[in-house]
Amino acid sequence: MDPLAGKKILLLIGGSIAAYKTPELVRLLRAAGAELRIALSPHASDFVSPLALQAVSGQVPRLSLFSPAEEAAMDHIALARWADALLYAPVSAAGLARLAQGLAEDLPGAIVLASRAPLFLAPAMNTAMWEHPATQRNLQQLAAYGAQILEPESGSLACGETGTGRLQELSSIVEHLRLALAPHPWSGWRVLVTAGPTWEAWDPVRGLSNRASGRQGYALAQAAAERGAQVTLVSGPTALSCPAGIQRVEVESAREMLVACQDLLRTETINLFIANAAVADHRPATVLSSKQGKQELPPQLQLVANPDIVHSLHRDPRRPRWILAFAAETHGDEGRAVTKLHAKGADFAAINDLRKGAMGGEENAVVLFCQGQRYALAPQAKLDLARALLHHLDTCLHGST
Ligand code: C5P
Repeated sequence: MDPLAGKKILLLIGGSIAAYKTPELVRLLRAAGAELRIALSPHASDFVSPLALQAVSGQVPRLSLFSPAEEAAMDHIALARWADALLYAPVSAAGLARLAQGLAEDLPGAIVLASRAPLFLAPAMNTAMWEHPATQRNLQQLAAYGAQILEPESGSLACGETGTGRLQELSSIVEHLRLALAPHPWSGWRVLVTAGPTWEAWDPVRGLSNRASGRQGYALAQAAAERGAQVTLVSGPTALSCPAGIQRVEVESAREMLVACQDLLRTETINLFIANAAVADHRPATVLSSKQGKQELPPQLQLVANPDIVHSLHRDPRRPRWILAFAAETHGDEGRAVTKLHAKGADFAAINDLRKGAMGGEENAVVLFCQGQRYALAPQAKLDLARALLHHLDTCLHGST
């Protein structure tokens, strides 16, 4: 289940041009299952239509602090108390200044003062305004009050300039909320995840790889972070961006992946290693330093075995506390796959049935084997599957960490 499901989010919208993006933000939050209420600053409606917000949220947005009709429906103090979290997105330079001063003269300002819920601020403004010492001092002040700042990004701005000040990507804002509001049963845990394919070079342009997209491994890293773990994602080549709050180490070959994992193991005590990467079992015996023409290519490719990362980490004196390995099976022979993963040192086995089309696709179905229990997880989006898988793992481990 999405950690945002059922969470009460009060979206405050400030007078910044980026306010035109908020109907889409509302759509994303609702898709995650959040309950929404919306309140606008006096100038926000110059940039986004309240009717559009009403249409996508199914709620009448609040527009004024001093409207008898609006206060009668739900007064601003009740609204402030209703919320599990306040998300002020976008918040302008003027909005930040008012909040830093504790001014309650507009609706967002009054609600922020009257609420004890966590406050997330997503500023959006011109670069010079963002960099101005007054704005930076206001941000420091607000951070000291406990607000979480969702930093703006760099890029082209509505004013025609290029620089820092763009509202953070909407998906990333939602992900920050998710990470912050989810329960954190794995707080204090270190989790290592391998993901994606590996690339085993033959010459500078040719090599061996496989169809893995990395999506399942990235989703597992995200789901572990949502549970409060500190996550390192060692990733083979993929087109995916790194989920919020996760440290990513990018590698190419199986041997590089092993070294990256061992480096982490040397300095950190790992609670859980999730080996999701589709690591190439073999690599070309010799790597050619320049691209070979068709005629010069040897007619046969000599292969040598790659190290097995799961087995190497299992034998390491600083072995991760738990190891979860994956097997992609095309025969549907679960028992054989589980035995194989246990033989290489995994504590738990997750079996994908490739006949259901997991690799490279949007959905996946997995059977998890954990301490004698078998959990069959139906085909579903890879992130939902990752959350369900870690939930079952947790249930199975309950009391034994
Ligand atoms: O033997 P097979 O490749 O099916 O095993 C898959 C599991 O082993 C996965 O968890 C994968 O990440 C891991 N593996 C590994 N190092 C390899 C090959 C596979 O860690 N060289």
